This record gives sequence, structure tokens and C-alpha cells, in this order.
Amino acid sequence: MPANDPSSDLHVARLGPVLEICFDRPKRKNALTQEMYRLAAEALAEAESDPAVRAVLFSGAGGVFTSGNDLQDFAQSPPTSPDTPVLRFLQALVGARKPLVAAVEGPAVGIGTTMLLHCDLVYAAPSARFRLPFVNLGLCPEGASSLLLPRMMGHARAAELLLLGAAFSAAHAHEVGIVTAVVEDDVVAHARARAGDLAALAPAAVRASKELMKRADAGAVEEALRSEAEVFLARLRSPEAAEAFKAFFERREPDFSTFS
Ligand code: COA
Repeated sequence: MPANDPSSDLHVARLGPVLEICFDRPKRKNALTQEMYRLAAEALAEAESDPAVRAVLFSGAGGVFTSGNDLQDFAQSPPTSPDTPVLRFLQALVGARKPLVAAVEGPAVGIGTTMLLHCDLVYAAPSARFRLPFVNLGLCPEGASSLLLPRMMGHARAAELLLLGAAFSAAHAHEVGIVTAVVEDDVVAHARARAGDLAALAPAAVRASKELMKRADAGAVEEALRSEAEVFLARLRSPEAAEAFKAFFERREPDFSTFS
């Protein structure tokens, strides 16, 4: 298995039939780097090809799921083509045939929320705090969230999350269908147990059922990923995004008053 190096920001471990992927970059609230996406995509590919792996579990270390894409990375080396580690990671999630489980504690920002739309079981601690601040950063939705969120909850409620970029609680995430259940006790232990339950089921029946559940939306999800990526890449190089990134690191509100 890749990334067993204890100094890695992404830990991959096998617990019996479950492959566990843990974001662990505490200094940056588990913000995701190109290398972390690359390793996560690699781990998902290995999970797909190894018949002994029956489920995958995502979690974050230190009471934080992830603060999303590393903003320094976005500001300094924005991806220029759709063939980037982040998109390969998203494709691997969307294409996963085996069940994906997530345990969310603390902040789950940007892709930290949109990746959950491609997981099968999502458990959140009461501390979980979700946010999709794409527009706030001068960007646009990714991870097929522009398609899936309005479908799940209707345009008006999705707009509050995607246009205003308002943070929302575990209870709200549960109410709108992003989260399977809010778990008061140890959420990682709970999610691990549910991943174990999935792993004990007939594997081909699980895969076939997941595929049937996803089939109707599959083409539209691919298309949404493609068009979002195109707009996102352009927006990353926009003056609006430059101002938003600068403001984040200067710990101030961005000033968009001069843009038209
Ligand atoms: N990329 C790069 N650095 C990040 C980061 C990110 N996504 N998220 C947090 N950090 C850094 C902060 O700059 C800070 O660095 P410093 O200690 O050198 O000042 C450190 O991690 C701790 O973050 P801080 O904001 O002080 O923690 P907090 O507990 O007050 O808030 C968050 C946590 C996640 C709510 C907040 O950091 C945040 O909103 N981050 C940005 C999320 C984001 O916009 N992601 C991109 C989505 S597309």
C-alpha cells in the first residue's frame, strides 16, 4: 500500500478488508496538496484492483476533516489543465465501484464537502462544520456539486450553500441529505464499524447495487465535472480569485467592490 511513511500528510492503512485513507496535515487544518490528491487517487485505484479490499474509509486527523484545497497551492501554482491530481482524485471517487464511507469531524471545506457527495455512507460528529466557499474565493463549484446539490435539495437551498457560501452544521447537512447520520459518540469508530458491515456483505451484490443507484446520474455527473473544471481553471487565474486568496492570507475580508 502507498503512503505508509509516517511523515506523509496522507495515511493509507489496511484494517482487514477496509482501506483507510486519513488526511493528516495539522498545521494547515489538513488542507489538501497536489501530493495528497495524487496519493489518495493512487490508494483508490489500488482499492479497486485489490479483491481483498471491500470498502474504503475517509477521515481526517486531529478533529478536522479537511480545510479543502491548499490555498497557497491555488495561489502559487494553479493547475492549467484538466489532467491534475485533484481532478484525477475526483474521477477516482466518482468511478469507485466499491463502497466509500466517510467520518467527518470539524471543518469540511470545499472539496472536503463535495467529495462527500460521492461517498455512500457519511457520518458526521456534532463538531462537523461544512462550507462551500467557492464564490467567496472568486471561484465556482466543483466536484459536480453544481449538479448534485440543487438536485438533492432544490435550487433555493443549494444557492444558499453554493452562492452565499454559508457554513452549515452537521444537523443541516443531515437534513439536506449530504450526511447519513450525525453520531454523538466516536464518529470514526462508528464509520469504521459501518465500513466493516459493508465489507461483510456479498461484494458483487454491493457493487452491483451501488452501480444501479448511481447509473441514472452517471453521464450528467461526468459532464458536470468537465464543465466545472473548465470554468474553475479559468477562474483560478482571475483577478477576483487573486484578491480572495490574498485576503485569506492577510486575514481580512476580500474587497470585490472594484470588479464588474
Ligand atoms: N490552505 C492553506 N492554508 C490553510 C487552509 C487552506 N485551505 N486552511 C487553513 N490554512 C492555514 C491557515 O492559513 C493557518 O495558517 P497560519 O497558522 O500560518 O496562520 C492555519 O492553517 C490554521 O488555520 P486557521 O484559519 O487559523 O484555523 P481556524 O480553526 O480558525 O479555521 C478553517 C479553520 C478551516 C475554518 C479556516 O482555516 C478556513 O476557512 N480555511 C480556508 C478554507 C478554504 O477556503 N478552503 C478552500 C476551499 S476551495
